[in-house]
Amino acid sequence: MASASTIFIAVIGAGGVGKCFLTQLRDLAVRRPSPKLSLCYISTSRRALYNDDYSAINLDNAIDVLAASSKAPPTLTDLVAYLSKAPGKAIIVDNTSSQEVAETYPTALKLGVSIVTPNKKAFSGSYQLWQDIFQASAASGAKVYHESSVGAGLPVISTLKDLVETGDEVTKIEGVFSGTMSFLFNSFAPVIGSGGKWSEEVKKAKALGYTEPDPRDDLNGLDVARKLTILARLAGLPVESPTSFPVESLIPKELESCSSGDEFMEKLPSFDQQMEEKKASAGDKVIRFVGSIDVGAKDVKVGLQTFDPSHPIAALKGSDNIISFYTKRYGNNPLIVQGAGAGGDVTAMGVTADLIKVIGQLA
Ligand SMILES: NC(=O)c1ccc[n+]([C@@H]2O[C@H](COP(=O)([O-])OP(=O)(O)OC[C@H]3O[C@@H](n4cnc5c(N)ncnc54)[C@H](OP(=O)(O)O)[C@@H]3O)[C@@H](O)[C@H]2O)c1
Repeated sequence: MASASTIFIAVIGAGGVGKCFLTQLRDLAVRRPSPKLSLCYISTSRRALYNDDYSAINLDNAIDVLAASSKAPPTLTDLVAYLSKAPGKAIIVDNTSSQEVAETYPTALKLGVSIVTPNKKAFSGSYQLWQDIFQASAASGAKVYHESSVGAGLPVISTLKDLVETGDEVTKIEGVFSGTMSFLFNSFAPVIGSGGKWSEEVKKAKALGYTEPDPRDDLNGLDVARKLTILARLAGLPVESPTSFPVESLIPKELESCSSGDEFMEKLPSFDQQMEEKKASAGDKVIRFVGSIDVGAKDVKVGLQTFDPSHPIAALKGSDNIISFYTKRYGNNPLIVQGAGAGGDVTAMGVTADLIKVIGQLA
């Protein structure tokens, strides 16, 4: 039975991250019985599970029951209205990459519903949406946390916020923000040895599940640009959108018009020479796909850069991310956050940690 101290949780999206999050939520609810955490809603794009009286959905088999549900999801407006009338505080956990869901955050927050999400869309879309979200949160007191929108579960956003809020001066942020790009360049241009052919490495990364189903979605640099937009805004730069600064795409011009990912993969070997030349032009250094923000110069960019083999960015392993914060307090030795920047469990960990922060402030 729900009581005023119950926190109502609505999970939108039950894919790779959503499923891991539900497991973590089930364990969290057992470890921390008060306030009671009650799953009142769960949906994918086609199915939903919820009860009009907000009674709890069993966390042990929510995924199976959702898969068998014949209920279609309500409109997002109706969902937000439903949650705003819950007999206790409500939190939306958005585990989708949907722009439409992201655009409902200001309305949800205005109505007192908090948001926790790994979805980058709301925070890297228009600057207006960013302002609407944080103004709505400030006005209603509802919370919004999105640690896993950059670097998955790595403490990137919380670290940057702490630096800024404690009065340090962040001068530069630089790093490898994509597990896919990390994997590709660590094997295409390793510190030791000559590495494989570009198209072969892309094929390998796709087969291992490191790329999006259509690898062009990684190679166009937009995913990294979205992460840089979020960090630049948190560092105080009013970046308009992820397309308002230079982003180097690794899709050859001639292949931009391919009608499918498969056609792109078929034709990519003809362009291996272009990437070989870039690799060779680095000389004694190695090339890496990085994002950087020069806060003082208000300069944000994403693309290929060369690094000395002894540089931490060059020495990165596997599909790890690395993010260096250069600040006045840290001087010449940046504060570095490094580790797995993708994967269901680690991403869901960032989401669950955010949820715990919100619960701590609402309870
Ligand atoms: N996976 C990672 O390593 C990682 C790392 C960092 C951040 N993230 C972020 O985490 C989020 C989830 O990633 P994922 O890998 O779990 O994606 P995914 O496996 O594709 O799952 C997405 C889920 O969202 C559902 N969905 C999509 N649009 C929806 C809508 N409008 N309403 C309700 N449900 C909707 C999908 O349902 P259908 O199946 O019915 O379409 C699916 O259940 C994304 O924003 C991603 O960028 C992921």
